[in-house]
Amino acid sequence: MAVSIAIDGPAGAGKSTIAKLLAAKMNYIYVDTGAMYRAMAVYFTQNHVNPDDEREINAAVSNVDITIEYMDGVQQVILNGDNVTGLLRTEETGKMASKTSKYAAVRSKLVDLQRKLAKTTDVIMDGRDIGTTVLPDAFVKIYLTASTQARAKRRFDELTQKGEQCNLEEIAADIESRDYADMHREISPLKQAEDAILVDTSDMNIEEVVAKLTQIIEEKKAS
Ligand code: DC
Repeated sequence: MAVSIAIDGPAGAGKSTIAKLLAAKMNYIYVDTGAMYRAMAVYFTQNHVNPDDEREINAAVSNVDITIEYMDGVQQVILNGDNVTGLLRTEETGKMASKTSKYAAVRSKLVDLQRKLAKTTDVIMDGRDIGTTVLPDAFVKIYLTASTQARAKRRFDELTQKGEQCNLEEIAADIESRDYADMHREISPLKQAEDAILVDTSDMNIEEVVAKLTQIIEEKKAS
């Protein structure tokens, strides 16, 4: 039977960086579910779908086909036959994904795809509802978080290194509003599953987090 590891938590806690490293170390497939919500958002933007109109969203979802492929171990998201992976990490797409991930039609289509992927392959899957909804029987569940200030500082450093002008206070405010939307939506809000292990990465570097999660997984295997 395929083994699943679920990593949930708010934006900027380091989920994708850590999940990718762990997956490579353990020879599991890394599944980035945020990328699927982002691909759906790309479709809505390209087709001028109003994110505030659920009927428009429902009609549009039935025209969307999203599949996942792996190229040199890196997840590629295919939207209606086109590889849209390069379009996913923009601010605009993130905002559209945040607005539209609350709808039942969007979530149920993507949750089905996520469960199918985990059925046949050992996966490390990250997102907001993996431990609570998508894979409630996951072998290990981690809730990865960090303080707003720590997350804002990481994002600030990342953008500054790329040469982009940015403001720490604005980034922190944006993180707080994204957290609020994720934690207060009606369907599958972001929350720690009862059987998830909380790891606060505010004062940890990447190597320390990978070591901590490896230890948690090894202990679970041994138990
Ligand atoms: O992790 P991310 O920034 O790529 O996620 C993009 C958006 O998708 C984010 O606003 C929350 C949403 N999302 C979700 O609702 N459920 C998931 N399992 C993953 C992401």
